[in-house]
Amino acid sequence: GTTRHYKFDIKLQNVTRLCQTKSIVTVNGQIPGPRIIAREGDRLVIKVVNHVQHNITIHWHGVRQLRSGWADGPAYITQCPIQTGQVYVYNFTLTGQRGTLFWHAHISWLRATLYGPLVILPKRHASYPFPQPEKEVPIIFGEWWKVDTEKMINQAMSTGSAPNLSDAFTINGLPGPLHNCSAKDTFKLKVKPGKTYLLRLINAALNDELFFSIANHTLTVVEADAVYVKPFKTHTVLITPGQTTNVLLRTKSKSPNATFIMAARPYATGPATFDNTTATGLLEYENPSVSKAKNKNKKLQLLKPVLPQFNDTSFATKFSNKIRSLNSAKFPAKVPKTVDRRFFFTVGLGIIQCSQNQTCPNNTMVAASINNVSFVQPSTALLQAHFFNKSKGVYTTDFPANPLVKFNYTGNPPNNIMMNTGTKVVVLPFNASVELVLQDTSIIGAESHPLHLHGFNFFVLAQGFGNFDPKKDPAKFNLVDPAERNTIGVPSGGWVAIRFLADNPGVWFMHCHLEVHTSWGLKMAWVVQDGKGPKQKLPPPPSDLPKC
Ligand code: C2O
Repeated sequence: GTTRHYKFDIKLQNVTRLCQTKSIVTVNGQIPGPRIIAREGDRLVIKVVNHVQHNITIHWHGVRQLRSGWADGPAYITQCPIQTGQVYVYNFTLTGQRGTLFWHAHISWLRATLYGPLVILPKRHASYPFPQPEKEVPIIFGEWWKVDTEKMINQAMSTGSAPNLSDAFTINGLPGPLHNCSAKDTFKLKVKPGKTYLLRLINAALNDELFFSIANHTLTVVEADAVYVKPFKTHTVLITPGQTTNVLLRTKSKSPNATFIMAARPYATGPATFDNTTATGLLEYENPSVSKAKNKNKKLQLLKPVLPQFNDTSFATKFSNKIRSLNSAKFPAKVPKTVDRRFFFTVGLGIIQCSQNQTCPNNTMVAASINNVSFVQPSTALLQAHFFNKSKGVYTTDFPANPLVKFNYTGNPPNNIMMNTGTKVVVLPFNASVELVLQDTSIIGAESHPLHLHGFNFFVLAQGFGNFDPKKDPAKFNLVDPAERNTIGVPSGGWVAIRFLADNPGVWFMHCHLEVHTSWGLKMAWVVQDGKGPKQKLPPPPSDLPKC
């Protein structure tokens, strides 16, 4: 592979959206940030220079980081933040992966403006398992707030209140014409008739799963989370924060007298209100026939897509079930066939006691947890503590493998819903095969949670509604062609079962990719021990690794 160098200057930039100008934190002054394009097997060397008054880290979402955990990026998990004026070089190899991923800030809510595509092309001369597209187009969804998101989340966390909803969703940084002053802030995709385009869809939004559709066009899903899938056709794609989906768009054989709207809007299941706005962009054909002189007075028709209802869980479930590994001879699904460690984790929202530095009404606030443990961010990085055998006072290894109190998870909440807090991890021996059932709870209300695992891809064996039944449900597990991915929506009022092989030594974060839930504590970490072999150990950290 080649070594590719990038420089990320973290700096402020004035940006105008929705009739207002504000100063935002950017990479190189751009929003979305720069596209990283590499090939499978390449090494990426990305020098991040922090020129702003915020602590920064960058995460390469979905990159496996085989024995390069020091470059993974979640703040206080694998590294201390890059402070003002400091530099850190992320250095890692893209091993055994190709497809669409993305990068984003992994500290506080800076992902709101620090995000961009990370495209891994197949090795030179290797082809796609589908027709070579005319053109490849990254389409990255984001969210825009008129307020300063860092001030907003800091205030929300210190008062126990919920942060503001965003003012718009964006397509490649642009909200589109349904919003005030945004007609010129509209993403336009220009296409030729009779061609195939590869759209690399990425959901970098902070707090919403999104439906995406293009009027009068069918999309063929060919890849999810940088893994090829069995192609299937759909009019709408559901994509959670943290997920990426490649779709083929086949354009009409002749340029129609129309412009087609593409739209992204939330899939929302929770009891809380959600940002019920729609981001739109345009699909425009080159040389539509009306531009010819005799049709001068005819206007192009503007066609709108029909999206599912905001709470269409039935669509969400069907869509998620359709995603199956391609599992061809060339791209086999390597599902672990045996299990060394079994875990059952409840995920959901609950109530927590306020700490001294907070001022909350009734002294309680909403929090989120896994197995009733609301994760407390340590003040130094877990990976350093683990590597240098200094875990004492940083983390404990007693993260529960099962809920401490069993209850009817999807039924009425039990009386005592108070959560615990702690910086607890699960320790796994090298190469352990892990089976994990993630069970949604409805203590405050059933809600879909997009769970993301760092350092691994996992296989999605099955999902269902109600409480997972350990006697009956394992019979439904798909061990042949399950989806292989890094982020999965735990169904609202249901469960999902996954498996992964712990073949990557280090400390790996797992969390809900809805930023508000991460802030509330819906996160934990796995510590994977070194193996015996030379290629089974985490090397020491680079000399420029930031200190806390
Ligand atoms: Cu895309 Cu831990 O995140």
